[in-house]
Amino acid sequence: MPHVTHRAPQATATPAADRSAPRHHVRPAAGNWCNDPNGPLYHDGRYHLFFQHNPHAAVWGDIHWGHASSPDLAHWSDHGVALAPGPERPDRLGAWSGCAVVDHGVPTAVYTGMNRDDGIGSVMLARAVDPDLTRFDALPRPVVDGPPPGLDLLAFRDPYVFTFEGRRWALIGAGHRGTAPRPDVLLYRITGDTLDSPWEYAGSLLDAAAPAAARHAMPATAWECPALFPVGEGRWMLVLSLWVDGVTYTATHLTGTLRPHGDGLRFLPESGGLLDHGRDFYAPTALVEADRTLVWGWSWESRTEAESVAAGWAGCLTHPRELGLHPDGTLRHTFARELTALRGEELPPGAPLPPAYEIQADVRVQEPDTEVTVHLGATLTLRANPTRGTLTLDRTGAPASAAHPRPRTDMVTASGPTGTGGRLRILVDGPLVEVVWDERVALTEKVYPAPEGTWQVSVTQGGADVDATAWEHP
Ligand code: FRU
Repeated sequence: MPHVTHRAPQATATPAADRSAPRHHVRPAAGNWCNDPNGPLYHDGRYHLFFQHNPHAAVWGDIHWGHASSPDLAHWSDHGVALAPGPERPDRLGAWSGCAVVDHGVPTAVYTGMNRDDGIGSVMLARAVDPDLTRFDALPRPVVDGPPPGLDLLAFRDPYVFTFEGRRWALIGAGHRGTAPRPDVLLYRITGDTLDSPWEYAGSLLDAAAPAAARHAMPATAWECPALFPVGEGRWMLVLSLWVDGVTYTATHLTGTLRPHGDGLRFLPESGGLLDHGRDFYAPTALVEADRTLVWGWSWESRTEAESVAAGWAGCLTHPRELGLHPDGTLRHTFARELTALRGEELPPGAPLPPAYEIQADVRVQEPDTEVTVHLGATLTLRANPTRGTLTLDRTGAPASAAHPRPRTDMVTASGPTGTGGRLRILVDGPLVEVVWDERVALTEKVYPAPEGTWQVSVTQGGADVDATAWEHP
């Protein structure tokens, strides 16, 4: 018999509140534009997170680095602009994406200086000038002033520094011009022990000729925002964002090994797949910690540009996620464990949805092809089918309108490993819906208008035991 247990007290009234914008996610407090997460860093007891930010409009352009910090990964404070382009510098057209590294005690941004309009940047350094990292001063000259000679590229940007066998290296996202799409990840050796020592080009780390890359990291004319980190037992994960002729498409991961190759390194991918199966997750970057790697993505808007301009803001970062491998070698993707600190009062089934909340449902199927459905108001459902390993977000219940003309399909289905049960976690913050099935399959979507109404869980096909709890994120 299907059996649904809801562990929660009786409903308490929740006041109507603004659900048009996220309240817990990192985005510029002053509004306007936000894209990629940049340079996550843990320094002096706080997490720092930077992001691509246009301080003047809710559209992309004039890119600065915005800054937020947190003591616990759950509660963030905004600190305004940390790094601004300089009119006389090679970043005069923008301080594009990059990473941050503590270099001999000094937090240092390693970023893309943009001074041309063809997507080809330089690698610049900017050092923090105060202990709270609220301002970075750029060194006047880049450490890499452009692509290596002999390469005809359409993209060269997004430096990412990592350490392999005690030496520092950097990756740069790239794509070659030509008739066939040829994305690339270029490798640089940092030859001294400070970041401003010479950087030497050390060839390609990975291109799409590798079968696993051709299968899991295409289509792409360029790979943006590469991030590489160890995932245990000698294995590494490479995260890439797939840019297809100007379209920021999706983010993927590849798992494999890193091997010395001449004066450089090669990444030998063995497996991979989408990092997040929703349509509003891009440009993730990583913070490598002793026992885990944290990742944030950029969640863009599914509404129109005119609507963003009218709202005065566009884009936010996702909640932090933990990325790694399960013991069976498949992707482990889950919310950072600290996010349980956001949980406030429990919300019984049938309670009105507050602007931000979390629902957790533990599912054990009793017969094959069972489907468990979480209803968020009348217009949005999330369905898990453990036997098929699928997770579906369905908003076909929302009526089309002039403002929401259904520019893309209203349903998205993710698939992962099959099984007999698992834990469904749904974190909603205004329009941002982030779902993780069984620490394996993630799905991020912006849903406008944000779901309103009450929540319920039901077994809509087959039979299952379901134990569901919800909490407000006050
Ligand atoms: C990814 C990206 C990066 C670039 C940045 C510019 O979304 O295109 O490649 O550095 O955004 O804002």
